[in-house]
Amino acid sequence: MPRLSGKIALVTGAASGLGKRMAQRFANEGAKVLLTDLNGPGAAAAAAEIGANAASFPHDVTSEDQWIEAIAEARRVFGGLHILVNNAGIGTPGSVEQTSLEDWRRVHAIDLDGVFLGCKHAIPLIRETTRRENSRGSILNISSIAGVIASGRMAAYNSAKAGVRHLTKSVALHCAKDAITCNSVHPAFIDTPILDNFQAAGVTKDEVKAKLGRQIPAGTVGEPDDVAWAAVYLCSDEAKFVTGAELYIDGGISAQ
Ligand SMILES: NC(=O)c1ccc[n+]([C@@H]2O[C@H](COP(=O)([O-])OP(=O)(O)OC[C@H]3O[C@@H](n4cnc5c(N)ncnc54)[C@H](O)[C@@H]3O)[C@@H](O)[C@H]2O)c1
Repeated sequence: MPRLSGKIALVTGAASGLGKRMAQRFANEGAKVLLTDLNGPGAAAAAAEIGANAASFPHDVTSEDQWIEAIAEARRVFGGLHILVNNAGIGTPGSVEQTSLEDWRRVHAIDLDGVFLGCKHAIPLIRETTRRENSRGSILNISSIAGVIASGRMAAYNSAKAGVRHLTKSVALHCAKDAITCNSVHPAFIDTPILDNFQAAGVTKDEVKAKLGRQIPAGTVGEPDDVAWAAVYLCSDEAKFVTGAELYIDGGISAQ
């Protein structure tokens, strides 16, 4: 029996990287998946790769109106919602002195406001769907190990991802009696296009990965599936008693 059989999921930032991989794994595990992204054609291409159990929707997570439309699209296309994965995010490097107010606000708008808006507008449809079926729902917020361990060079990202960690616990408590879980995952460096931020001129991606891997006890950066399999578990009924939790997917960084 597939682990997400009968579930309907919405994954943001699903045109690329972790979001795309989670959407693929969810569909393989029996879910119907709405892939949303600021990059609408990219989300459409990723949905087409998955096939009949996937649809896409162009969606800027900083826009409350577009969140309302995206949730309505899940209802229109698949008839409800059980799972929300707040995955869309950007990582802008810079110390507190180097970060402009504009960049600070942009990172928080996408990485934190987007998660707030997603929870706020998805919960009513998840509650309605799960009450109707006597089933269960889940929200998974993709934070970062940078939301737990700070760096002098990631001020805005550290702040926004730490906010996601604590917002997750508030949402978990708000939804606990509704049979809706809310958890956060905290990956370290995973091999996706976001690592391009670390690539200086004349340095290859393999050199970047090797350098980042040396900061990790496991000796290597992670793969998208390292996060996708955790997401399958946390969004399945296997994890029905796991809520408000934070899972570090970091090759041992936080154990040091
Ligand atoms: N890859 C890593 O090393 C790593 C580590 C920790 C946390 N994360 C987090 O994982 C999440 C996914 O990152 P990724 O590595 O797959 O990066 P990625 O750049 O491959 O994917 C991010 C996706 O988000 C989309 N996006 C950006 N702004 C958006 C907006 N305003 N509205 C909707 N979509 C938007 C992009 O178009 C892109 O498709 C992010 O929240 C990131 O902070 C990644």
